[in-house]
Amino acid sequence: MSILEIIKSRRTIYQFIPKLIPLDSLNLCLEAAIWAPNHKMTEPWRFWVIGKETQSELAVIYAENRALKRAEKGSDNYDDIYQKALSKFLAIPQVILVGQLLAKDKVTIQEDYAACSCAIQNFQLAAWEIEIGVQWSTGPIIEDKRTYEILKMESIDLKLIGALYMGYPNCVGKSTRQPIEKVTSYLA
Ligand SMILES: Cc1cc2nc3c(=O)[nH]c(=O)nc-3n(C[C@H](O)[C@H](O)[C@H](O)COP(=O)(O)O)c2cc1C
Repeated sequence: MSILEIIKSRRTIYQFIPKLIPLDSLNLCLEAAIWAPNHKMTEPWRFWVIGKETQSELAVIYAENRALKRAEKGSDNYDDIYQKALSKFLAIPQVILVGQLLAKDKVTIQEDYAACSCAIQNFQLAAWEIEIGVQWSTGPIIEDKRTYEILKMESIDLKLIGALYMGYPNCVGKSTRQPIEKVTSYLA
């Protein structure tokens, strides 16, 4: 595939087949990520490759946040949503957490977020080229202080900016974009 074909065919993937990602494939995606542009060479990204033990701990945080958002704690509905969310999270073949080192000034923080976003997109595109799908999530687990405790990180030094859920796609959805003419002004 050409780079444009990879960019255009890549979709956010929500359902995965139960097959693990080989470490060399994972490292290839990380390698693509760290070659993202970054102003003043801050290289502000940090990655955590989550193993099964840690995934079980994160699953509890994920399920609790999901159930609390939709139902009252202690209700049957809560327990139902909790259990489904727990199973859903545990079924993700590979979870990666992405953090941004926090600079001291606002401008650098903004530029570093842009650089981390480029890194995540590089990661997703490299994955797609080898038929691995990713969901880039900014859901509540990256805001929860227990996630920082699990990673043994302080939120004053680093901000978690994304959770990447990855695996071989079970189902690829469709998406559209507005044509370039709608979002571009060509000036004389
Ligand atoms: C900064 C950012 C945060 C996102 N957060 C979420 C999220 O929390 N949950 C989710 O399902 N998708 C999330 N996405 C993925 C978008 O929903 C997805 O890219 C969009 O629907 C377009 O679909 P496509 O990726 O298949 O083109 C996020 C994407 C970006 C760039």
